Amino acid sequence: MCGIFAVTGPEQDAGSQVLKGLKTLEYRGYDSWGVSVREAGSNDLVVTKDIGKISNVNVPFPKGKEAVGHTRWATHGGVTVANSHPHQVGDVTLVHNGIFENYAEHKKRFLAAGSVFNSDTDTEVIGHIISELLNDGLSPAEAIRTACTKIEGRFSILVMFKDVPGIYAARRGSPLIIGRDKDQTFIASDIPAFLEKTRLVNYLDDDEMVFIEGGKVQFYDLDSGEEITKRDIEVPWKLEHAEKGEYKHFMLKEIFDQKDSIARAINHEDDVLNKAVELLKSSNGTYLVACGTAHKVCLAAEYFFSQISGRKINVVAASEVPYFERFINQRTAMVAVSQSGETADILEVFERAKARGAKLLSLTNVESSSVARMSDVHLPINAGPEKAVASTKATTAQMALLLLLAHADAGKINQGRELLSTTSSAINDLLNPRYEEHIRAVAAKYVDRPNMFIIGRGPLYPIALEAAIKIQEVSYIHAQGFAAGEIKHGPLALIEEGVPCMVLGDELETISNAIELKTRGAKIIGVSSENADIFDDWIKVPDAGCAQAIATLIPVQIFSYHLALLRNLDPDMPRNLAKSVTVK
Ligand code: F6R
Repeated sequence: MCGIFAVTGPEQDAGSQVLKGLKTLEYRGYDSWGVSVREAGSNDLVVTKDIGKISNVNVPFPKGKEAVGHTRWATHGGVTVANSHPHQVGDVTLVHNGIFENYAEHKKRFLAAGSVFNSDTDTEVIGHIISELLNDGLSPAEAIRTACTKIEGRFSILVMFKDVPGIYAARRGSPLIIGRDKDQTFIASDIPAFLEKTRLVNYLDDDEMVFIEGGKVQFYDLDSGEEITKRDIEVPWKLEHAEKGEYKHFMLKEIFDQKDSIARAINHEDDVLNKAVELLKSSNGTYLVACGTAHKVCLAAEYFFSQISGRKINVVAASEVPYFERFINQRTAMVAVSQSGETADILEVFERAKARGAKLLSLTNVESSSVARMSDVHLPINAGPEKAVASTKATTAQMALLLLLAHADAGKINQGRELLSTTSSAINDLLNPRYEEHIRAVAAKYVDRPNMFIIGRGPLYPIALEAAIKIQEVSYIHAQGFAAGEIKHGPLALIEEGVPCMVLGDELETISNAIELKTRGAKIIGVSSENADIFDDWIKVPDAGCAQAIATLIPVQIFSYHLALLRNLDPDMPRNLAKSVTVK
């Protein structure tokens, strides 16, 4: 949700470097973009910004060794050039990721004093606060620190001052990572922005601040202003992990990455899994919380634990947890599932659960994420960087790890491993161009239909819900998932001649439900291990036993991807959405 990136070093092309790095962060926001360069010679902070996707941008920048940039996902203020970052107020130029919740009260004060605003953003108000503090005689660092005491909400900011070399950054709640390469330093909301240059990083934590200039890096505590030291970390990522390679889109690449990401997800030592199991066993109530697709993973996991270890899990969408807060106490196991580990709704649940004494367990794809670092026990899902907005490989990795955890909870780790490695091999065999082409041909038959319905029962019911999310977000077709047995209690009224209904699984009862749909005119797309007469089209999946939910999701992802392509849409960047939702 908004990508920010800064470069300082000996090279005079900092502007182009920032533009290039921002392109790797475009998945975080693609409404508009902007770059500010400290122009060589004049020291002026020259801003270039525009609306539209940054991937299409190729503009010259003034020569300069320092630059900051931003790719935006609009929150406060529409998509206009004026609302794009960076914002400039007096000598201050800044970019911002997050939400300044109490900006209106500050803006009112400035307006009353006659200040002029050039945008509708909350970010510009931060600029006014810092500028006012500078005018009061505070140093740049003190002005930022004091401004941060006035901001409520989660944020990260990068700030440049005219006539003061170097770049400042502060963080409370939104990610910032420092990349270090001899005499050049970077600050970014995600590692791919500088991965081409360095793998040596420091993670900025909440309520910390950093100053960079060339190879100089100084960290400070945001409250006290005292200098602090941070651990240097070498990240294991390789550049090709964060690039599309031979694939046309990240979404397709990430779907095909599932050839081995499931095997990586379950590659944990027994004692790590047992630590997580101990946390569950020492509790008298387990909550599984997540958002969007990850929430559907948790719904599938509810079946896994019920069937495999007999544990009752309470699955709640993170944004709904406040309504159940009275049940959270020292005996609660609060388990979060999140690709990014930065989702604001989850962070809030974790903060509040921690304050009530709950034990925190998380499964994330980013080990350095805020969620991972707050947890008592963290299990990385090891899917590798996921850049398409629509989650695919992280989803199946989360399901695989939760399925393994359910087996560990039942004292059957080896059985779980065996099941998942067989499933992983079957998926490896499945993912080939012929299979993809068959699914594309099925998608082509239904691409012009305005509505689609998906049904499944047991663990395939959450997969029906997830299938609907995938279809909606990349193809914009109205899609809805239902528990197969529920359709006769209402949804059947929606069925008319020719409406495509995807039927997940081939259990007898599910086939009966498919017949109910077909009798009312639906076209049936079966996604199952066995073909059935009732199916108009059939997409085969391997028989994966308890891991059927994982195997079934993969063709559904391919189907959604091709619906998007057939409708001339960019599946990597669906309208109105962004990866990593760091605002509430
Ligand atoms: C949809 C999708 C989203 C995310 C949700 C949570 O394809 O990716 O629904 O699942 O925004 O994000 P994370 O997993 O980063 O917490």
